[in-house]
Amino acid sequence: MCSSLMATQGDEIPAVEAAAKSSEQSNASPRSSHSAPPTTAVSVEEEEQDAVAPSSNANASTTRLNSHQQDGEAQEKLQRKPSVLQKAGRWVRSRLGRPLADGDLEADGVSGPAEDADYFLEKLALGASTQAMEGGVISRGRCHCCGGGRVTCCPPAIDPSKPFHYQWLIVVTIAVLYNMVFVVGRAVFWELDNATPYLWFALDYLCDAIYLADMVVHAHEGYLEQGLMVRDTRLLRKNYFQSFRFKMDTVSVLPTDLLYVVLLRSAVGPSSGDAAAASNSSDLLSGNQVAGSPTPFRPCGAGPHVPCPVIVRINRLMRIPRLLEFFDRTETRTSYPNVCRILKVVLFILLIIHWNACIYFAISYAVGFGTDHWVYNITGARNSSLSRQYIYSFYWSTLTLTTIGETPQPETDAEYLFVVIDFLAGVLIFATIVGNIGSMITNMNAARVEFQNRMDGIKQYMAFRRVSPVLASRVIRWFDYLWANKQALDEGRVLSALPDPLKAELAIHVHLDALRRVRLFQDCEPGLLVELVLRLTLQVFSPGDYVCRKGDVGKEMYIVKRGRLIVVADDGRTAFATLGAGSVFGEVSILNIPGNRTGNRRTANVRSVGYSDVFCLAKADLWRALEDYPEARRSLLERGCQLLRKDGLLDEDELKKAEAENESIKDKVKRLEEQMGKIQKYVHHLQMENDAHKAVISQLQNGNTERRSSGDCEIVPCVVVNSSEQEQCLEDSTSESEEETTVVENPKGA
Ligand code: CMP
Repeated sequence: MCSSLMATQGDEIPAVEAAAKSSEQSNASPRSSHSAPPTTAVSVEEEEQDAVAPSSNANASTTRLNSHQQDGEAQEKLQRKPSVLQKAGRWVRSRLGRPLADGDLEADGVSGPAEDADYFLEKLALGASTQAMEGGVISRGRCHCCGGGRVTCCPPAIDPSKPFHYQWLIVVTIAVLYNMVFVVGRAVFWELDNATPYLWFALDYLCDAIYLADMVVHAHEGYLEQGLMVRDTRLLRKNYFQSFRFKMDTVSVLPTDLLYVVLLRSAVGPSSGDAAAASNSSDLLSGNQVAGSPTPFRPCGAGPHVPCPVIVRINRLMRIPRLLEFFDRTETRTSYPNVCRILKVVLFILLIIHWNACIYFAISYAVGFGTDHWVYNITGARNSSLSRQYIYSFYWSTLTLTTIGETPQPETDAEYLFVVIDFLAGVLIFATIVGNIGSMITNMNAARVEFQNRMDGIKQYMAFRRVSPVLASRVIRWFDYLWANKQALDEGRVLSALPDPLKAELAIHVHLDALRRVRLFQDCEPGLLVELVLRLTLQVFSPGDYVCRKGDVGKEMYIVKRGRLIVVADDGRTAFATLGAGSVFGEVSILNIPGNRTGNRRTANVRSVGYSDVFCLAKADLWRALEDYPEARRSLLERGCQLLRKDGLLDEDELKKAEAENESIKDKVKRLEEQMGKIQKYVHHLQMENDAHKAVISQLQNGNTERRSSGDCEIVPCVVVNSSEQEQCLEDSTSESEEETTVVENPKGA
């Protein structure tokens, strides 16, 4: 029974072993031909071979190409015929009573996601050449990463979860903060700009250098796909160059400082300015302005002057997203997230007050210092000092934005307008952000708050219990992955309000990409698919996590949604098989296979390579669903038998005995069914005869009546039943043969 039904399951290639060997061989002698890997273990799904086909040489590439072609054909076939998922879609729609719309087949996504899936498989295959486990990240040899068949040494990819990246973010954040504070501040407070021109010059261009270096770092930042870190520098760069962040980053490093030269030329004039400008390029670049009495020490001119030329560097603020990224990362990493959040809010408040103070001072300059009571009065020794200018402006800005103090009454229209805007901003920013920060976050981002609360709780717990830093960082990374991949949602709870058919339709739609790869689902009836889908729960496993261990009691089976897992020996390294998206495992120990020497114990260890999203199906749920679908049950049993047989864990005698018992019961049922069929046919035949007799009797009665009235001869109809049709009728009760009724004139008295 087992073997006959398993025709579709091909022999497995131990992909990870092959990967390791291929890698070893290619490292040892890059030109040596690639021998076929031994086939000691079996693959769970044929598709996995494509997903993990690792190769770093031409032979392996060809193999991969062929397997991809086959995979493509299989996909095509799958798309041509309406898949079981489509049928399931129809099934749930019919259960919902909603008519099938024209576009529904396309909406099922059967054709769409296939391309993505293939594209992704292709990418994974490329990435598998020299893979090695490294703290849950698939690392790749540096000299194979440039793609396009070129063997080139590339700059290393940067793992954003590593400390180096965070430290780099700190450096970039300082540069961004410097620009946020000083570009605006120096543009308004000319004395500040004039104070230390050489220091500003050095700091400005140091920040620019950091910005440029940051673009290089950003272009090589790894990102997660299918739970594995993408480290192909070609892909990383492509990903960055196509992102919106790249555009913003480019704008933030545009050399707008060149406008200093223009400003200088226009201020000095062509005759004298050229020589002066050319004589000291550093003065030009540091913004030596010639209005008034500019000197290298007074880039903004001697007297009051707003805005100073440094304002052209305002585009440096376009790097603010990096600052936000730093805060996000800090929040995730720190054990005191609440302190971090408070500091972040305080920093933003201070920045807003600072900018507002600068605007106030600029307006005072525009209106005229000391011309009324509202503007800043610069006269007097104390008021003309830089510190007093700034501190008063900051004080005024704080009072206005927080609306907690008396400020001088505005006098001109411009002043009124500015104060109104400030009040509004103050009300909006402070009343909303500061006053209701807790409830705002809770209401506006409940999922994030809930997630953060969970994460904070675990962090506190780990700190309290003195969990080792390595384990604590694994837990935090798991949360990071959960949030970054939108897996933090408790789908069961969110969808609990929906009726089952709608829930199933939604679940099929959301997880279509993974479900369509599962062979069990491709062949099974739509009803079963819906039953199973409704009972799936999603679990996320971290790199190196054991999903199940050999010898454990099996309580659930798994379907891989995303990521990669390996079936490993007890040493945790020797891989027998690789499981990719759509693979099913963990079913052997829950199927109660007769002859299973391990009983209901796990037959192998299964470990997650990177991050893996896995659907989990409880044993009781599976059995409940399979009760009504014997075909699917048989198919699963077959698969389990095959795996057990390969590992020598199947007692064939026991299995045969169970099959024989099973067969004898089947025979009895078959015999009973045959007898029932015969009885039904006989009853049917009797009914037909009865009908025919009734017809004859009624005709006889009609004939006699006519004869009596006309005085003619008596017509006696007789019934002839076609004997061959009668036999046919007995043979096949389903054919609806009709009795032939022939009426012949019978001479009177015959
Ligand atoms: P179970 O024994 O319940 O738990 C471990 C699972 O690993 C097992 O079910 C199978 O689904 C799977 N498994 C065991 N051996 C192999 C193998 N050689 N190849 C692929 N999968 C396997």
